[in-house]
Amino acid sequence: MKALVLAGGSGTRLRPITHTQAKQLVPVANKPVLFYGLEAVAAAGVREVGMVVGDTQAEIEAAVGDGSRFGLEVTYLRQAAPLGLAHAVLIARDYLGEDDFVMYLGDNFIVGGINDIVETFRREGPAAQIMLTKVGDPRQFGVAELGPDGRVVGLEEKPREPKSDLALVGVYLFSPAVHAAVAELKPSWRGELEITDAIQGLLDTGRRVDSTIISGYWKDTGNVADMLEVNRLVLESVEPREDGRVDAHSEIIGRVAIEAGAVVERSRIVGPAVIGRDALIRDSYVGPFTSIADGCQVADSEIEYSIVLKGASIRGVGRIEASLIGRGAEVTPAPRVPRAHRLILGDESRVQISS
Ligand code: DAU
Repeated sequence: MKALVLAGGSGTRLRPITHTQAKQLVPVANKPVLFYGLEAVAAAGVREVGMVVGDTQAEIEAAVGDGSRFGLEVTYLRQAAPLGLAHAVLIARDYLGEDDFVMYLGDNFIVGGINDIVETFRREGPAAQIMLTKVGDPRQFGVAELGPDGRVVGLEEKPREPKSDLALVGVYLFSPAVHAAVAELKPSWRGELEITDAIQGLLDTGRRVDSTIISGYWKDTGNVADMLEVNRLVLESVEPREDGRVDAHSEIIGRVAIEAGAVVERSRIVGPAVIGRDALIRDSYVGPFTSIADGCQVADSEIEYSIVLKGASIRGVGRIEASLIGRGAEVTPAPRVPRAHRLILGDESRVQISS
């Protein structure tokens, strides 16, 4: 079995934090979301990975290299334009040959990996196997309709009126039968060759498509609340480490990973949290479920349940919570403006004014 990992896409589907970065490299607990996918592929016993890349090829290649660090052999497959998930399968046709393959969308995060689904696929041998999960707004996803016996009867891409709340998760297992279905496809209303249409094609020609419902799924939908939540989930099992320098006036409590070169001075860190390489935490409090990336500075501030990306600095701003701070961002206090309260107070009033 091979893997086809999709890390292409253009810069046109912009989301708040991905407008300057490949979305597959958005970090979760200081590690690009794509790396979790590659680790899951390796853990499932797959070695050969075709990595579909587009405009951001250089960035992806710099991060992943030849894949040996993950125990993988990565071959880069250039897709001239993001013409759809099934188009990615089309351009990978020669690479995939007559092997079964797992297709993994590089911006998807699956808690618990893919070992079980790969094993089920190998055992059952359907033409395709998909993963489904309940989502709040199915209109943003491919949506599956199941028959009374739980079998997949139909699939629709980003439907205006979804027939269920079961979204397709970005991991698919295919036998080589999918190539014939892909070859038949015409571009959809959004101009893409849709993998949902290819799977529908398999169903229409009487092929067997199995599905598994999972929980513990996330994708970069630009929803910060979800991203903080998946960050929290991953941090819960972070390995405590103290590779950086922590001075005697600081206190580290709970599961905290402090990377090499990081410096913690006169501060309190309550885990789970990660502090990236060469970060500086001074006279501050870092609370649970916080990821501070490499080279960040946090001084005279408090931060909790947040993600701070590479090279950002937060200085003298009191408390920050449930926030996502982009690469190289600076958060500093606003200059004080003179303020006055104008009041007309009745007799015996009691007023509390926070100055
Ligand atoms: O994430 C799950 C959803 O992924 C499914 O529910 C949908 O059925 C499926 O179509 C897909 O939806 P999106 O439209 O949200 O996919 P997106 O454009 O975000 O692309 C997914 C990944 O594949 C992303 O890492 C970029 C990469 N990609 C995408 C396209 C369209 C490519 O490498 N090449 C492409 O042509």
